Amino acid sequence: MNVFVTRILPQKGLNKLEAAGCMVKQHSEKRELSQQELIDLCQDQDFLLSAGPIKIDANFLQQCSHLKGIALMRVGYDNVDIPAATKNNIPISNTPDVLSEATSDIAFLLMLAVSRKAFFMNQSIVRGDWNFFEPTGNLGLELYGKTLGIFGMGRIGLRLAAKCKAAYNMNIIYHNRKPNLDAENELSAKYVSFDDLLMESDVISVHANLSDQTQGLFDSAVFSRMKPSSIFINTARGDIHNEADLTEAIQNKVIWGAGLDVTQPEPMDRNNPLLFMPSVCVLPHLGSATVETRDKMAVMAAENIIAALHNLPMPQILNP
Ligand code: DGY
Repeated sequence: MNVFVTRILPQKGLNKLEAAGCMVKQHSEKRELSQQELIDLCQDQDFLLSAGPIKIDANFLQQCSHLKGIALMRVGYDNVDIPAATKNNIPISNTPDVLSEATSDIAFLLMLAVSRKAFFMNQSIVRGDWNFFEPTGNLGLELYGKTLGIFGMGRIGLRLAAKCKAAYNMNIIYHNRKPNLDAENELSAKYVSFDDLLMESDVISVHANLSDQTQGLFDSAVFSRMKPSSIFINTARGDIHNEADLTEAIQNKVIWGAGLDVTQPEPMDRNNPLLFMPSVCVLPHLGSATVETRDKMAVMAAENIIAALHNLPMPQILNP
């Protein structure tokens, strides 16, 4: 069976596929494929392992309806038209759970970095601005005992909440489609309305899927209901916040600052004003980027393909 991979796959995933007898072709250039290029490359393939944000929409699925399965090497599947995949009888899988630890670490890192303006202060040394001790200068905010508001309490949100509770005894509140009993039982987390989440949180961390309901949700009106001392963290999808509104909210001190691992577009323009603000830290979508996690994601994606080639259900199927 032929498998096309849209990136260079971690070796452990490649080994799995090859041990199962697959002929693997990888896209090794350091650039995104266009959708048409991917359609052309998939014509003589049986399976696709897709490791980036490329759109797998109705057009793609119709032109590649011969595919026997598509394994995403990511947890978010907002780039895929799931009903169209089902209509074309193509099973689709993702890689949940295995990246929750690494991604919640990045959210935790961003919270701390923003609260102490760490990235900006690091650059102040490079700029030659570290001249003398200032009792009233370079001040950050402390996290200990503060309130963390999780927007989207799934697996990643739960791991971040657990870390913040253990490290900083933070009070956890959350807003979700439905109550998360693990969070309530293990962390005494409290389910609150969206309005209360905005008004009570010292840090709001976004862990929701991108959907029609969440697209552009964090805008001027939402930021204006947050505390002026609050921090906004997004490690989910850049489309969930309105970047111009976020920039303005920080410039006008409507909120304290922001930590972003996701932007819209990606990559972010290197002259973006957010990159030069003291209480902002931006990372280039590093959520799952650890050796351990990327190995697990590649192996999981490979196992989904191997199941499908044996006519078994993909273990992480999104369209059963
Ligand atoms: C995911 O797995 O969804 C990450 O955001 C990488 O795209």
